[in-house]
Amino acid sequence: MTGRKRILTGIRPTGALHLGHYAGALENWVRLQHEYECYFLIADYQVSDYADDIARVRESVWEVALDWLAVGLDPEGSHYVIESLVPENAELTALLSWFLPLSMLERNPTLKAEMEALENPVDGQAERKPVPVAFYNYPVMQVANILLPRAHLVPVGDDQLPHIELTRETARRFNRRFKEVFPEPEALVGRVPRLVGTDGEAKMSKSRNNAIYLKDDAGTVAKKVKRMFGGPPRGANEAGVAAENPIMLYLEAFDPDREGFAGLKEQYERSGIGNAELKERLTAVLNGLLEPIRDRRQRYAANMRAVREALEHGSCRARETARETMAMVHDALDMNYLERY
Ligand code: TRP
Repeated sequence: MTGRKRILTGIRPTGALHLGHYAGALENWVRLQHEYECYFLIADYQVSDYADDIARVRESVWEVALDWLAVGLDPEGSHYVIESLVPENAELTALLSWFLPLSMLERNPTLKAEMEALENPVDGQAERKPVPVAFYNYPVMQVANILLPRAHLVPVGDDQLPHIELTRETARRFNRRFKEVFPEPEALVGRVPRLVGTDGEAKMSKSRNNAIYLKDDAGTVAKKVKRMFGGPPRGANEAGVAAENPIMLYLEAFDPDREGFAGLKEQYERSGIGNAELKERLTAVLNGLLEPIRDRRQRYAANMRAVREALEHGSCRARETARETMAMVHDALDMNYLERY
């Protein structure tokens, strides 16, 4: 157990997880879970955009935990952590914010994009909202999340890379100025850094309603695939460009028959294949992938006590590590004021 290098990674509890999460990150978590000591974080402090819908956050904590169990993250070997059950996350955020210039946050492209989205909501779907202070806190908090267990590796989707860069910079600054406390963590992006949406949008996301969820049943998957955007219009026997057709991109990402897919792609780009045929293949591929995940999810959903225990034990263990780190931080910053007299 001890001696292994550590992973910390996380997800905000704002809904169930989808294929984009799977190919962009979860697959790596599953693959690395035994090689590293893993802290899987449900980042419930970082949901200011859902502040008026805490019921959804509360629900999503369980959804996320169930999805993790469903994909095969073993809660015996790893730690499932609820962020707010480890309040040291907030404490370290406060202390690190002493050392991070605001300008560094303002340059962060992920943050910039998110603020823009908040101020210019899509198609009048939501009202324009002011940017809360929490938006500046939350990259710092993500830095704190990663540094708190002194993690070495952070497997994430590629939209998170600026935050990992910020974490590395923060670790370097702290170590140089005070004491060597934090490893400089590496980022690891998944096999498919960014999965397109079923509508052809650049990114699969819950808010765009273009996602296939890990918990979708076989019929729902079939229906979503049937309605998928199939690239620019083509004639019956017209060659297409695979990269322009989300159906082909999904097959590229998930078809386990690599040789079969290579042949299919070659044919698609040479003489064309109808979308209906491709969709049939994709439905089978996705249901093949999701079936064992759905089964495991169902088994755990029938035993929510076990899920609760995973969250409770993991958070407890994470808190022990957090206390250790905070003692090192207090020491490095010379903050043990009471020890004077
Ligand atoms: N910000 C991440 C997201 O939106 C979630 C997250 C919070 C996270 N803390 C983290 C990811 C620490 C990696 C490491 O998906």
